[in-house]
Amino acid sequence: MTAFIAPSILSADFARLAEETAAVSNADWLHVDVMDNHFVPNLTLGLPVVKSLRKASSLPFDCHLMIEDPKRWAPSYAEAGAHNVTFHAEATQDPVSVARDIRAAGALAGLAIKPGTPLEPYLPILAEFDTLLVMTVEPGFGGQSFRAEVLPKVRRARQAIQSGHLKLYLEVDGGINEDTIEEAARAGADVFVAGSAVYDGADPAAAVERLREQANSCMAQ
Ligand code: DX5
Ligand code: ZN
Repeated sequence: MTAFIAPSILSADFARLAEETAAVSNADWLHVDVMDNHFVPNLTLGLPVVKSLRKASSLPFDCHLMIEDPKRWAPSYAEAGAHNVTFHAEATQDPVSVARDIRAAGALAGLAIKPGTPLEPYLPILAEFDTLLVMTVEPGFGGQSFRAEVLPKVRRARQAIQSGHLKLYLEVDGGINEDTIEEAARAGADVFVAGSAVYDGADPAAAVERLREQANSCMAQ
């Protein structure tokens, strides 16, 4: 396995999104946090911004929808050119149908679970997905501390992927930085979202490089 680093533009300067995106052109995915002020108590950006930014960057977009009613909204992000569209398990009664709509619209489909949401009920449907995003903070804000108590769930997800021969990215999001990325990698994650750890420093591209090296150094081969 090889580590993917996905800088979160939530920590970027929203007045300079194209430049901030260009500053991490060595990243694997660009993580785009969409929040609706209903599913989470924060409001960020939506489809018009994703469409404009899509024209300004060639990075694959990893859209993380922290919104209610993903059945209604998620396929539009795929149509807008997102590479992966992840929605929250807690936001829908029928995650399989949303995943099928996303795939039909041409993107990878991702399922996100909050720190307190168990993995077990979703194990039987993971084959419908391309990405499993395990939140390592409560969704809503960047710059929070990594919650190490979620790591057993990451380990359990990696076991399920291996034993089920699933083709699934295992993504962690929240509080990933140079102090936490190695334990997340050892637990089995292979996609690492990093917002403040990339954008709060002077050299975002160098931060991406460092995080990738750290993750690769301790991931299972
Ligand atoms: C939080 C978002 C994250 C956030 C990560 O709800 O989903 O993607 O931007 O930011 P850091 O890396 O600063 O925790
Ligand atoms: Zn996110």
